[in-house]
Amino acid sequence: MRKISFIILFIFTMVFLGSCEKEKPEEITSKKNIVIGYSQIGAESSWRSCSTKSILSCAKDAKIQVMFDDAEQKQDNQIKAIRSFIAYQVDVIVLSPMTESGWENVLMEAKVANIPVILTDRSIEIDDTDLFACYIGSDFIEEGRVASQFLLNKFAKEKVIKQGAKKDTEDINIVELSGVENSTPAIGRSAGFKEGIKKDSRFKIIHTESGKFIRSRGKEIVKKLLDENLDIDVLFSHNDAMTIGAVEAMEEKGIRPGKDIVIISFDGEQEAIDMLMNKKVNCVVECTPYLGNSVIEAVNKLVLKEEVSKYIYSRERAFNEYDRDLKTIGPRGY
Ligand code: AHR
Repeated sequence: MRKISFIILFIFTMVFLGSCEKEKPEEITSKKNIVIGYSQIGAESSWRSCSTKSILSCAKDAKIQVMFDDAEQKQDNQIKAIRSFIAYQVDVIVLSPMTESGWENVLMEAKVANIPVILTDRSIEIDDTDLFACYIGSDFIEEGRVASQFLLNKFAKEKVIKQGAKKDTEDINIVELSGVENSTPAIGRSAGFKEGIKKDSRFKIIHTESGKFIRSRGKEIVKKLLDENLDIDVLFSHNDAMTIGAVEAMEEKGIRPGKDIVIISFDGEQEAIDMLMNKKVNCVVECTPYLGNSVIEAVNKLVLKEEVSKYIYSRERAFNEYDRDLKTIGPRGY
C-alpha cells in the first residue's frame, strides 16, 4: 500500500503540484535531468504540509524530478524510503529526519553509493558529520531563547508588581508541551528556553509532556492538567498545532487563554497569528516552512560538485502582544 502511494505521489508531484513558496527570489533552473529522493516525516501539522509543498513546488519550478515518500511519523519508513532512493540511484537525497538518532547505517549506505544527503527542517546527532552534506532549517535553540526573552520581559518584576498579577517572589508555574521526543525542534526549543529562564528564579517548569506536535494531543494533555486543577501561569508549547488544541481545552474550562494563562508558541501558522491578534496567545516565535528555495539551490550545487555551507539557517522573527504592527502581518500561507 505504501509502495503504491510512493509511486502515485511521484507522478502527482510531477504533474499537479501548485506553488506554496511565498518568495521566489530567482528562478532556479537545473543543469541536467536531476532526480531527488525526498523523505518527509508526515503531515502532522499545517506547518509540515506547507514545508512539503514548498520543496515540491520549488523542485517542479526547477524541473527537478522528485521521488517523494511520506513516512507517516515512522523513522523505519524513512529508512526504507532512503534505501529505495539509493536503489534508484537518485542524484541527491533530501531528508527531514523525524528524530535525531539512528541514522548512521543508512547514511553510510548513501555515502557508499556516492549520493549526497541534505538534511532539512530537522537535524541529526551523529559523530561523522561527513555523512550529510548540509543542514537547511531553523536554529531551534535560538527560537527557544527568543521565547524565554519574551517571558522575562512579560514578567519583569516591576511590571508584575504594578499589575498586581503576582508578588515579585511568587513562583511562575510553566507547563511545557513538548514536541516529538528526541527531535531537533523539541530538544532545541526546550534547551534555549531553559537557558533563558534561568535568569529569573521565579520561573519553574512544573510539568513537561510530549504532545508530539499534534493538535489533539495538545488539547488532551492540557484538558487533563486543568481537570487536575494544576496551577498554570504559562503554557510553553512547542508548536502552533498543539497550542490551538490547548486553547480549545482552556476555553472549554472557562479559562481565558492569553490572560489567565500566558501562552508562547512556535511556527507562525495563520490560526496562531489570528489568536495572537485576538489576544488568546501572547507570543509566537516564527519557524519558517519555506525551505524549498534553499534546498533546491543546494541540490543544484551538490550536483555540480560546488561547495555548500554546512549549516544554512532560516531568517526568522517573533511576533508578540507588544508589537504595534500586528495588523501588518501578511497572510502566512500555512
Ligand atoms: O520540525 C519543525 C516542527 O515540526 C514544527 O514546529 C512543527 O509544527 C512540525 O510538526
